[in-house]
Amino acid sequence: MKNILVTGGAGFIGSAFVRRMVKLYPDYNIIVLDKLTYAGNLDNLLPVHDEPNYQFERGDIADRTTVQRVFEKHSVDTVVNFAADSHVDRSILEADAFVHTDVVGVYILLDIAKLVGVTRFHHISTDEVYGSIPEGSFPEDAPLSPNNPYSASKAGGELMVRAYHVTHGMHTTITRGSNTFGPYQYPEKVLPLFITEAIDNRPLPVYGNGMQVRDWLHVDDHASAVDLVLHRGQPGEVYNVGGENEQHNIDVTHMLLKLLGKPETLIRHVKDRPGHDRRYSIDCAKIQKLGWQRNDNFEQTLAATVEWYQKNEWWWRKIKTGEYLDYYKRQYEDRLAESK
Ligand code: NAD
Ligand code: TYD
Repeated sequence: MKNILVTGGAGFIGSAFVRRMVKLYPDYNIIVLDKLTYAGNLDNLLPVHDEPNYQFERGDIADRTTVQRVFEKHSVDTVVNFAADSHVDRSILEADAFVHTDVVGVYILLDIAKLVGVTRFHHISTDEVYGSIPEGSFPEDAPLSPNNPYSASKAGGELMVRAYHVTHGMHTTITRGSNTFGPYQYPEKVLPLFITEAIDNRPLPVYGNGMQVRDWLHVDDHASAVDLVLHRGQPGEVYNVGGENEQHNIDVTHMLLKLLGKPETLIRHVKDRPGHDRRYSIDCAKIQKLGWQRNDNFEQTLAATVEWYQKNEWWWRKIKTGEYLDYYKRQYEDRLAESK
């Protein structure tokens, strides 16, 4: 392993992984390939911008010519694929980009990897591919049962990864991470959305009764899990990566308001998301056996995350304009008006 291509490395989790790898492994060359969609942001990579073992290429993982050019130019031997359209609500409005990147893009990456002889392919998937579980936790061999266009596209992509292992003998691994939070997360996902809206004393749109459960994983723990599986994961295997920290959405909302010193009157219960998964829960024994340990203490890391958004308005204020506002209006104005 020497020349590692990190696709989607300008996004939230991908950039945390790149920042980690560039600093921890000076002998590896880390090459980011990112289309810079609305969610891709070079500010996320500023901390490594001047490092000699980091390079950036702009391009689409579903574009065969670009992918082959980048693989050959950098003698890529390892791929870590974070690139995806990643937000459930956007996939409900329009799913074209999800099928393009999360299914077709993964296939093109695999196919060029096979063509040029890449020896190692790690794919980032999500706990959402299992669907909702009322009680207990999904092990890795549970059937996939995705319920929204985002999770369906992620399931399609990872099944193609499986097929390239079984059919073509490629050394692939897959991680299925749970809801991730931390610095540099695009403020359409619930935690940065609620933190930045509350800072501006704007209403927080809680879907339905807020009793849905998500398992919160800190982004640095997600990155360390990918690092571990990249180095020690067994060919063809899948590893769940969870925070083992299940919270009702409404409880997390109360925690955020308390940390920010904002009133509970900002909470608005709005129309529920269609097909809203009630609870995600995964069993993480397999990756723990491989040697993964989380550093996370949720109360501390949530407080540190809130503080990061308070101190880094330069990062998120410029995002919350233009295209972001169009999306926000489409998504929330009617729901918030109905809830008054
Ligand atoms: P993100 O939306 O913040 O970043 C996605 C990145 O992919 C962006 O930089 C974007 O520009 C890039 N991208 C999108 N389409 C591309 C294309 N066609 N070609 C090249 N680059 C493209 O997403 P994230 O939250 O960092 O998620 C990263 C990965 O982790 C995704 O695969 C996602 O499914 C998975 N995941 C996310 C979570 C979570 O809670 N955020 C949890 C589990 C798994
Ligand atoms: P989100 O961050 O979109 O992640 P995912 O849908 O992938 O789990 O949402 C997390 C939870 O928060 C989910 O149950 C939906 C809920 N939610 C709200 O209640 N209001 C919102 O404005 C958003 C974006 C999400």
